[in-house]
Amino acid sequence: MNKYALITGGSAGIGLAVARELALRGYGLVLVARSEEKLALARESLMRDLNKEIDILTLPLDLTREDAAQTLFDWTQQQGLIVEVLVNNAGMYFFEEAIVLDAAKTQALIRLNILTLTRLCQLFGAEMAERKLAAGRVNPVEKAEPAYILNISSYSVYMPWAGWSLYSASKAYVKKFSMALARELRSRAVVVSCAAPAGVATSLLGLPGKLARLGRRCGILMRPQTCARRIVRALFRQREYIIPGWYYWPLIPIVKCIGWCFPQKLHRLLTKIFSA
Ligand SMILES: NC(=O)c1ccc[n+]([C@@H]2O[C@H](COP(=O)([O-])OP(=O)(O)OC[C@H]3O[C@@H](n4cnc5c(N)ncnc54)[C@H](OP(=O)(O)O)[C@@H]3O)[C@@H](O)[C@H]2O)c1
Repeated sequence: MNKYALITGGSAGIGLAVARELALRGYGLVLVARSEEKLALARESLMRDLNKEIDILTLPLDLTREDAAQTLFDWTQQQGLIVEVLVNNAGMYFFEEAIVLDAAKTQALIRLNILTLTRLCQLFGAEMAERKLAAGRVNPVEKAEPAYILNISSYSVYMPWAGWSLYSASKAYVKKFSMALARELRSRAVVVSCAAPAGVATSLLGLPGKLARLGRRCGILMRPQTCARRIVRALFRQREYIIPGWYYWPLIPIVKCIGWCFPQKLHRLLTKIFSA
């Protein structure tokens, strides 16, 4: 029976690149995002690039909806899909101070980055654990092949800077939640990993074209394909916490220090960058 990888936000950026890596490893794909048109284009580009028969299903769904996780889980059950890899990738980002954010935007970010991700982990995690247990009773070798949950956090967990209050805090939740969940599920043959990429060249950050190009050229922004390749490789090595790009590890104390020492200057600089 075909085994599937379900990727939220799989129609663009890091999600699409992760989907490609998982298809190369033989998984059928379930891509979830809001825009039906973007999903169809992503499906087409994957079929063309991979040049092989892959099963790609798409589901247009707004994951900020209160019932989104349950709707998505029920849909996969109705379709009879075996989800062996769940990638919680869809996320919302903005650079704005907390006190100027309206209730709707605040709620949407918390729903997408935290609530839906948490519910998807609970629903699919329980199903995976139960399935692995049942498989282990029939055939112990099959239990040895774990299912995977990959949650996308962000390097911004080390940057609780002005303008990133909600985003950085939501990604810190993803990190802590994933690490504890990994311990809860490991003995049940479900591997949970959390990835924290730094800057990646996608449309998420909304950087002006010139700056985005400069960032790519200077190597400050990683290509989504490189980021995805590193993350997926580490996922199957069962790493609990992944920062794509080894050089970002020694930068953590430096980045933290900058935040402590120059909060105002940083805020002015980031405001300039994101309003350019
Ligand atoms: N880019 C970076 O520098 C960076 C760095 C660290 C971490 N991350 C994290 O990596 C993840 C992916 O980011 P990205 O840069 O690849 O973003 P992206 O290029 O903007 O792609 C976002 C994907 O999520 C989907 N999406 C957005 N809102 C959604 C919603 N409400 N419901 C369902 N799908 C939704 C989008 O499709 P639709 O618009 O059609 O819904 C798209 O497929 C995010 O969690 C982000 O926080 C990114």
